[in-house]
Amino acid sequence: MIYFLVPVLLLFFSLAYAAGSGAPWVPTFKRDIERVRKLLDLKAGEIFVELGCGDGRVVLGVTKGTSVRGVGVELSIAQWGVAQIRRILTRSWKSRFVLGNLFSYDLRDADAVYFFLLPETYEKLRPKLEAELRPGARVVSFVWPIQGWTPEKVEEMEGAPKVHLYVR
Ligand SMILES: C[S@@+](CC[C@H](N)C(=O)[O-])C[C@H]1O[C@@H](n2cnc3c(N)ncnc32)[C@H](O)[C@@H]1O
Repeated sequence: MIYFLVPVLLLFFSLAYAAGSGAPWVPTFKRDIERVRKLLDLKAGEIFVELGCGDGRVVLGVTKGTSVRGVGVELSIAQWGVAQIRRILTRSWKSRFVLGNLFSYDLRDADAVYFFLLPETYEKLRPKLEAELRPGARVVSFVWPIQGWTPEKVEEMEGAPKVHLYVR
């Protein structure tokens, strides 16, 4: 019984801790990953960063079949572990997953940053994006806009959340 309980409790606390820090895990549909991919139109060699990458599906989906370098940052060890397994299974060696707090990840090298978090986390993240992103870097926010920024484009689809594109 204890062998079953310990991993379940670890998984639970890891997910709850990450949820309390910025957002709970909510998986992204394939359809929406494709919308993000099209909107960003990433070029070979660019660096794509997802802050709060969950199980890695967006990083791996957006960079699939390209030479874009993907980085996913995730606080929950459970989600990070799944992302690592997906990376190995899909042999996506150009992408990597960092276990840590998204607020500590240095964004100065990023060409494009994507996130799907809570609106209050977007608010907390804004000063970091303004301080670290180089001019021309793209930011995509899923579902909610970034307050105080003017989007370059808002991608809308019936029955689906909005995707907002910003250029610094
Ligand atoms: C809405 S989910 C994004 C899911 C991801 N796009 C996917 O489809 O799997 C938000 C993710 O952010 C992670 N997260 C929340 N706060 C975080 C923080 N401070 N640092 C890193 N990751 C965080 C959560 O663990 C969760 O996996």
